[in-house]
Amino acid sequence: MKILITGASSGLGLQLAQDYLLEKHQVFACGRNAEKLANHFQHSDASTLVFDSTNKEQTDATLACVETLDLLILNAGTCRYVDNPMQLDATLFTDVFSTNVTGSLNVLAACLPKMKPGSQLVFISSAASRLPLPRAEAYGASKAAIDYLAQTLEISLVPKGIACSLVQPGFIDTPLTQKNDFPMPWLMSVAEASQKIRRGIARRQRLIRFPWSLHLCFSLLHMLPHSLWASLARQFINRT
Ligand SMILES: NC(=O)c1ccc[n+]([C@@H]2O[C@H](COP(=O)([O-])OP(=O)(O)OC[C@H]3O[C@@H](n4cnc5c(N)ncnc54)[C@H](OP(=O)(O)O)[C@@H]3O)[C@@H](O)[C@H]2O)c1
Repeated sequence: MKILITGASSGLGLQLAQDYLLEKHQVFACGRNAEKLANHFQHSDASTLVFDSTNKEQTDATLACVETLDLLILNAGTCRYVDNPMQLDATLFTDVFSTNVTGSLNVLAACLPKMKPGSQLVFISSAASRLPLPRAEAYGASKAAIDYLAQTLEISLVPKGIACSLVQPGFIDTPLTQKNDFPMPWLMSVAEASQKIRRGIARRQRLIRFPWSLHLCFSLLHMLPHSLWASLARQFINRT
């Protein structure tokens, strides 16, 4: 398969790229940081593509060299937390949304014409989009936008023969979470997360959720009266 992965210079995207290379697929590994990409992929058959996905011109120009794709994994993302809800910082929201939403859309717009019937689109969202989690106002909202985009495209791309998968992982041990200052239940290794995502993609699953224990917990929390959930969430935030 010809596979393009964004955010392949670090964490989950890097692991997915390395795992697909081991399976002898043709991989386009994308990222902003040329040095990191070169270090990780210099002894591999991957093609590295360096661009900032929030910059549409740069994204279009760099991706022009890709002719066709069987699998596009929109993985590049960032997370910033809101520490004081009384001092909302619009630039924080803009930063998170431009990487997680606009960046994904720029890559998607450039790549969709290269995708033929039978190809697959994969959106890396987050379990955080399932519940209103204090401090994740910007991150959770950006991933909820990705959920909606993936779920609508899943319907509208049927006539084109392009399948969509939405991935909602829990906590994965990557540079993104290594700076977190709170407990991360069911933290998973990046190798295990990659395995679960690749298995879901191979089965053409429309929804790939893991770990199951976290998602079961979230489903149960969803059923609670809102006031009870709000009180639990406030207690959790006060402890951290
Ligand atoms: N880790 C978790 O617990 C977790 C849980 C749920 C969902 N996710 C999602 O999984 C995805 C990967 O996260 P990760 O944990 O692997 O994070 P990470 O290690 O911080 O990697 C983020 C990747 O995104 C790239 N990136 C960021 N901004 C970019 C931009 N403007 N243009 C192009 N590339 C950009 C980075 O490239 P450079 O290094 O080159 O800048 C890097 O390769 C994200 O969408 C994240 O929201 C992660």
